[in-house]
Amino acid sequence: MCLEEPRILQQRTELERGPSVKRGAMDTKEITFWLKLSRRNIRILLVFALISVGMAWAADSAQYPDNFRRWVHVGTGVILPGGVFPENEQGMHHIFANQKAVDGYVSGNFPDGAVIVYELREAQQKNGVIIEGERRRVDVMIKDASLYKSTGGWKFERFMGNQQLQDAVHDSGSSCFQCHINAKAHGFVFSQNR
Ligand code: HEC
Repeated sequence: MCLEEPRILQQRTELERGPSVKRGAMDTKEITFWLKLSRRNIRILLVFALISVGMAWAADSAQYPDNFRRWVHVGTGVILPGGVFPENEQGMHHIFANQKAVDGYVSGNFPDGAVIVYELREAQQKNGVIIEGERRRVDVMIKDASLYKSTGGWKFERFMGNQQLQDAVHDSGSSCFQCHINAKAHGFVFSQNR
């Protein structure tokens, strides 16, 4: 009895070890399966991360409107000292629209890709003549309904002087939009194409 018992035990442990080895093999398969799955998941996550970084970049990076002076001229206004407008609004301003924005001026519904520029320059008065002087700033509105939902689908930008790289708008355009909301009936655009 005393001698037999260890043998039985040994057999038993061998029996137990058998399937346990098999189970081990299954575990490795399972592990590689999960590893593959998680590797794929990581790849998918990376792609999503890159897309969102790209979208954030598109939403945040400054987009200066090149050659806007060759677009359609919507209108010009002159704000002189002595009125209700503060000094930083004074001067001669011109509004320019790219082709998509021109379509929007007609329908009041501005499509994605519409860009409108408000260029403010010094107003110089000489001998009863008012002419435009140095550029004071360039304000820009860029339409992308899905990217700029909180500001009526418009990205608002401001470039001081002849600056083209640094956007002076730091609140995602909410302060611009607070005033432009008054032009809601015309797609948040005040000016009208004549
Ligand atoms: C207090 C009100 C007010 C604020 C704040 C304001 N705007 Fe405007 N904006 C106007 C008005 C009014 C016009 C129309 C001027 C005209 O027709 O001569 C205008 C015109 C424009 C235009 C030309 C398109 C249009 O709506 O006629 C652009 C582009 C523009 N603004 C950008 C900006 C940006 C960028 C900011 C913020 C940095 C801003 N605005 C802040 C009142 C405002």
